[in-house]
Amino acid sequence: MSEHATARAAAAGSCSCGETSGLLVPEVATILDVRNETAAGDVKTFRVALDDPAAAWVHRAGQCAMVSVFGVGEAMISITSSPTRGWPLELSIKRMGRVTGALHDAGPGEKIGLRGPYGNHFPTGDWKGKRLVFIAGGIGLAPVRCLIDYCLAHRSDFGPVDIIYGARSPGDLCFKPDIFERWPKEKDTRVHLTVDKGDDEWTGPVGFVPAFLEELGPSPDNAVAITCGPPIMIKFVLQALGRLGYTDDQIVTTLELKMQCGVGKCGRCNIGDKYVCVDGPVFTLSQIKKMPNEF
Ligand SMILES: Cc1cc2nc3c(=O)[nH]c(=O)nc-3n(C[C@H](O)[C@H](O)[C@H](O)COP(=O)(O)OP(=O)(O)OC[C@H]3O[C@@H](n4cnc5c(N)ncnc54)[C@H](O)[C@@H]3O)c2cc1C
Ligand code: FES
Repeated sequence: MSEHATARAAAAGSCSCGETSGLLVPEVATILDVRNETAAGDVKTFRVALDDPAAAWVHRAGQCAMVSVFGVGEAMISITSSPTRGWPLELSIKRMGRVTGALHDAGPGEKIGLRGPYGNHFPTGDWKGKRLVFIAGGIGLAPVRCLIDYCLAHRSDFGPVDIIYGARSPGDLCFKPDIFERWPKEKDTRVHLTVDKGDDEWTGPVGFVPAFLEELGPSPDNAVAITCGPPIMIKFVLQALGRLGYTDDQIVTTLELKMQCGVGKCGRCNIGDKYVCVDGPVFTLSQIKKMPNEF
């Protein structure tokens, strides 16, 4: 079990033999409100609070929660609100199948289960004074938004910030108040948006994220690039960053494997000697290159 999971097990009062049953019990939570992120309504942000405030945990940027719909099942979801904002938490969820579909059909006041926080976190302590280049596509902005807000809340710890974000169409851009209003007003922070296909009102750049990134060409000097999005976008973003001169240690991403327990017990998310649910989901490209290519 990772240091993090061991600490969580201890916090949950489980025994030293590695028993993690306490970690698998969800707390009951209430959906406070739901916000549509996209024009098609396929991504929604849920603001949720635990019914027992004493059970509230403190997460770190990059960590996830297992969200359950009673009688339906569970899904691993990144916590999209920054730890600096505390509770209620925000979870941005794309309708994919049974659980996420049931969540999309749920409204304010409905009860869900929450357990967590799970996984490692972005190593922000190693990034003091560095230029931060965030690169995200579609719903991939969800975990990155938590990190961006964390870094902006500690603005003086970091250098210039560039946020490069793309979606299929203007209507698919998530977190519009953040990308259009809030983040561009932050000190030494630039937001660069692109869409695969514009519409009558879109006057911004049109094109895929990797090409847009290369065109913008953020310098790798004293920089860290953090990327999250669909696997095909990540594949080409990694190639573009390499051409821009970023080393594998300067590139951080998240792995999204199917998960079940979330605590390193069921083996569902195993790659080589790693369990993505406890050792990840955040990895540098150097760490990923040392893993067997099983994902
Ligand atoms: C670390 C981590 C963080 C995540 N964060 C978010 C988030 O912030 N917001 C969000 O909307 N989703 C997130 N996901 C994905 C989310 O967990 C899945 O979409 C969800 O479990 C699907 O459950 P379902 O019952 O609705 O779909 P199912 O009925 O189980 O499946 C529907 C379809 O989605 C595919 N699918 C299911 N899970 C995954 C997966 N993990 N990766 C790729 N394809 C999958 C299935 O193969 C199937 O084709 C995250 C996943 C992980 C592992
Ligand atoms: S989800 Fe069970 S070991 Fe990772």
